[in-house]
Amino acid sequence: MTGDGLLAHHRLRAGEGTPLVLLHGFPLDSRMWHDVVPLLPGTFPVLALDLPGMGSSPSGHDVAVRLGVPDVPSVDLQADAVADTLAELGVDRAVVAGLSMGGYTLLALLERHAWLLAGAGLVDTKAGADTEAARANRLRVADEVERAGTVEEVLGMRRAVLGATSREQRPGLVDRLEGWIRDQGPAGVAWCQRAMAARPDRLGALRAYDGPVAVVVGDEDELSPVAEAEAMHDAARAATLTVVRRAGHMTPIENPEPVAAALAGLVGRA
Ligand code: MLT
Repeated sequence: MTGDGLLAHHRLRAGEGTPLVLLHGFPLDSRMWHDVVPLLPGTFPVLALDLPGMGSSPSGHDVAVRLGVPDVPSVDLQADAVADTLAELGVDRAVVAGLSMGGYTLLALLERHAWLLAGAGLVDTKAGADTEAARANRLRVADEVERAGTVEEVLGMRRAVLGATSREQRPGLVDRLEGWIRDQGPAGVAWCQRAMAARPDRLGALRAYDGPVAVVVGDEDELSPVAEAEAMHDAARAATLTVVRRAGHMTPIENPEPVAAALAGLVGRA
């Protein structure tokens, strides 16, 4: 891999062959993958990106300007930024895995840049669009974080993303998530909420994709429940399904071992 990239990228492991590229969830950054990487068998390289406005990446506005497109928040723009970044890094084909919001980005990549994908890992995510009520709530939250100038409004996610078992037994995970959420800027959080609110249903794009797919979900995931994972598994032509026990929406930190095994298996099939 060579060069700089539009989005902040973190080379988490050097190696040989098709890289595994990791896309994080909301309202977080690429650090949420750190527990998985040491558990990945094999020698393939691993790269994690920060999506626009999150972690160390430029804002959605700056990304739109760099890509020469209107600044309208969308997961399509996230996907185009990922594709542009990988091109700048000299990566012409990759296995990409995304958690939740990162999965929405991955589904957009699959529709817009399928040639780039040697395999798709859909972790604690869903292919459907939001309900009207969910969309309205996202827009309300976006307005509120901008108005307040803090990420307080989304801090509740530090508990909501965990499964009941982790919430009861692992308070350290709540603290860790809180630290990561507090590190994000309100503008980035608002931009992502608006992008997710605008996303379409992408089950059709998944049906049309003929590469290998790995679907992973925590059995206690309350935000992208097991039924959503089963729907993606059934829609994809060549998918595996891994249900991670005693984990919620944050399988990569709640129980990273089966996540690593599923993603390494995907790279092996790619
Ligand atoms: C995430 O983890 O990325 C969020 O739960 C996505 C969402 O709000 O739909």
